[in-house]
This record gives sequence, C-alpha cells and structure tokens, in this order.
Amino acid sequence: MTRILMVCLGNICRSPLAEGILKSKLPENNFLIDSAGTGNYHIGDLPDKRSIDIAKEFDIDITDQRGRQFSSKDFDVYDVIYAMDNSNYQNIQQLAKNETDKQKVKLIMNEIYKDQNFDVPDPYSGGIEGFKNVFMMLEEACDIIAKKLS
Ligand code: 4NP
Repeated sequence: MTRILMVCLGNICRSPLAEGILKSKLPENNFLIDSAGTGNYHIGDLPDKRSIDIAKEFDIDITDQRGRQFSSKDFDVYDVIYAMDNSNYQNIQQLAKNETDKQKVKLIMNEIYKDQNFDVPDPYSGGIEGFKNVFMMLEEACDIIAKKLS
C-alpha cells in the first residue's frame, strides 16, 4: 500500500482537486490518497463549489471530501506528502519531527518541472479560470505521479 497526502492551505480548492485527480488514475485497493490543509478555516467543509464544478467537467466527483487540518501525525501515516506551494511546504516542514518526516515533503510541481520549485497558485480569490488552470496543472503532475507508481 502506498500512501499519498495532498496539502494546500484551506483544503477546499487545490488539494481536493489533487486528491480527486490522482485517485482517478490509480487503483484504490493499492493506494491510500487523501488531502489536508495547513490552516484550520475549513474543517468539515465541502470543497469549494468551483473545484467541485471543474472536477465534474472532467467526470471526477469530489463531493465525498471534507476539509481537515494537516497534523504532525500525518507524517506517520503517509509515504509522500505533496505541498501545492512553497508556503504550504514551509508550514508542513515546521511540523516535521525528524529528518525522515522532512524527506517525505515534496512540491507537487517539481514532478513536472524538476527542482524549479513552482507553486500551484491559490485560486480562492479569483475566478473560475484560475480553477481551470489549477486543474490542468494538477492533471499533468498527477499523470506523472501515477505513471511512476503504476
Ligand atoms: P486552497 O485555497 O488552499 O487551495 O484550499 C484556499 C481556500 C481558503 C482560504 C485560503 C486558500 N482561506 O483563507 O479561507
């Protein structure tokens, strides 16, 4: 079983899309894929409607997801923790208990653009185009992740 956690700030826009997209590409019996936010603003909330809508356009249903906050216990459960941006990356690293924990954290865009440390931009305050852009970025990154793991 390979366990992968997608992390953003609110766990309502980017990481729910990353979770849904990666789940659509891997068999569920061999992979545990989840998402969380570094912030506590949206615990228990559905993903943002704009994320739900863009996922639905691509036949991915993310309405079973609910917001939760990342905790240092997640380091004990997950093999790889993908941060959506550099701020998430720093916040996750600050909760690491040891070097093993730190090594688990990666920037998801580095799967496409190795060592470039690009962000998946936070689309929360913008329009639907930003969500479409995020979806396309995550689709490409998750395709690479899924192919590496299959
Ligand atoms: P996310 O976007 O990190 O992609 O889920 C955000 C959602 C909500 C907030 C910030 C970012 N917020 O401040 O409430």
